Amino acid sequence: SEPIQSICCIGAGYVGGPTCAVLAWKCPNICVTIVDISQERIDAWNSDELPIFEPGLEEIVKSRRGKNLFFSTDIDAAIIAADLVFVSVNTPTKTRGVGAGYAADLQYVEAATRRIALLSTKSKIIVEKSTVPCRTAESMRAILDATSPRPGVHFDILSNPEFLAEGTAVQDLLKPDRILIGALNTKSGKLAQDRLANVYATWVERSAIITTGLWSSELTKLAANALLAQRISSISSLAAICEKTGAEIDEVARGCGKDSRLGPHFLKAGLGFGGSCFQKDIFNLIYLAETFSLQPVADYWRQVLVMNEWTKASFSRTIIRHMFSTVSNKKIALLGFAFKKDTGDTRESPAISIARDLLVEGAEVYIYDPKVSERNMRQCLGAFSNFHFSSSVEAAALNASAVVVATDWDEFKPSSSSGKTAAAIDWTSIYANMNRPAFVFDGRGILDTAALQNIGFKVHTVGRGNLVDTLS
Ligand code: NAI
Repeated sequence: SEPIQSICCIGAGYVGGPTCAVLAWKCPNICVTIVDISQERIDAWNSDELPIFEPGLEEIVKSRRGKNLFFSTDIDAAIIAADLVFVSVNTPTKTRGVGAGYAADLQYVEAATRRIALLSTKSKIIVEKSTVPCRTAESMRAILDATSPRPGVHFDILSNPEFLAEGTAVQDLLKPDRILIGALNTKSGKLAQDRLANVYATWVERSAIITTGLWSSELTKLAANALLAQRISSISSLAAICEKTGAEIDEVARGCGKDSRLGPHFLKAGLGFGGSCFQKDIFNLIYLAETFSLQPVADYWRQVLVMNEWTKASFSRTIIRHMFSTVSNKKIALLGFAFKKDTGDTRESPAISIARDLLVEGAEVYIYDPKVSERNMRQCLGAFSNFHFSSSVEAAALNASAVVVATDWDEFKPSSSSGKTAAAIDWTSIYANMNRPAFVFDGRGILDTAALQNIGFKVHTVGRGNLVDTLS
């Protein structure tokens, strides 16, 4: 089959940017143009300060930019030139109208599809990279057929969902567990599937490239995220039992994870899940189930979200309860605002809920995060703008009554466990400059509880009943 020579990626976000930068790096013979309607985002991709932080991304972008990797707002030109177009636009949860709060908002996918239909002067492969509801390709097909003005121009639609995780995007893209390509079971669909598989085969083993039908591929992305989120809610529910019984969640997780049927991953208890995808994709799945009147199925997945919300709220309540049921006018240092380490992304971050809960109670909240700007924090907290931005852990904790760990950044961990040489937090000096009693609430289970207790801190760690023990 004819090799792909020119790729356009519509959407220069957390997925489009890293995915196509790695593709350009691995396939120097393919011209890759990433386009977006946001001038600000494109300017940032073309500058020294990339719009997103991912370990290893900057080197890759800088090595290919201007050679076979381009960032542009000239969407039309990039579409016209492309053999293959990745649609990598956002698919947020609808906020109004039919399915509000559950269904995916497909307006950006539709706008991109219409643009492709209108402009294409040659046949193209169109790839759903965005996470979409099952059977979205059918709607795209209908739009293309109805609006493409040129006879003889043929479109093949593929589903190629992205499984990268933020924070490890580059590693995930360089060595993916699998690449999934769904196509219609037609001669032309199969050919398109082969052509995209050949692109990935430049650096991914053939055995890791899975080909399926279109609808299976679309649903697999929702299914994978739902299963991952469900596992986090499961461990959160068990952590809650640990806190009441004296069992320790890390020990329970280790004991369970050694079972080869369960496996060790994704069993770390914390503040539940955050990020732009898990909640949105489960809502999507619930909506799909309800559309087909599968109410018990919808209820089953809804409970995963209920558990997640409860986990965050329960952590906030625990903080307040231990601080003598009032945090009013008390200074509290919140360490971490990103939804997890190694990303600056704050979408659906548990830290937002915790900060809000504490601000509502009248606490003086000082927030430090190594990668999140004050502007971003202000956008996330909206009306709750009376927090303080800190530029170091020490500044946030100075004269504070409590330190709350909300993100699992390595720099918050003891140096032995992070495996880093950078100086770890000097908790003795933090303690010396805090009010008494000095509390630490470890929402991620990353600190050395015993060492902190030795210094004099009152410590609560998720999934451990230690503060209960020391107080009783
Ligand atoms: P994002 O919001 O960071 O990026 C989407 C970009 O598309 C925005 O910059 C927006 O301006 C642009 N855009 C929207 N409509 C456009 C149009 N008509 N023409 C040109 N540009 C347009 O979103 P993100 O995080 O990259 O997600 C994209 C998709 O990938 C979503 O469906 C998401 O569910 C999925 N996904 C996200 C993952 C993640 O970790 N963020 C992982 C796997 C999938």
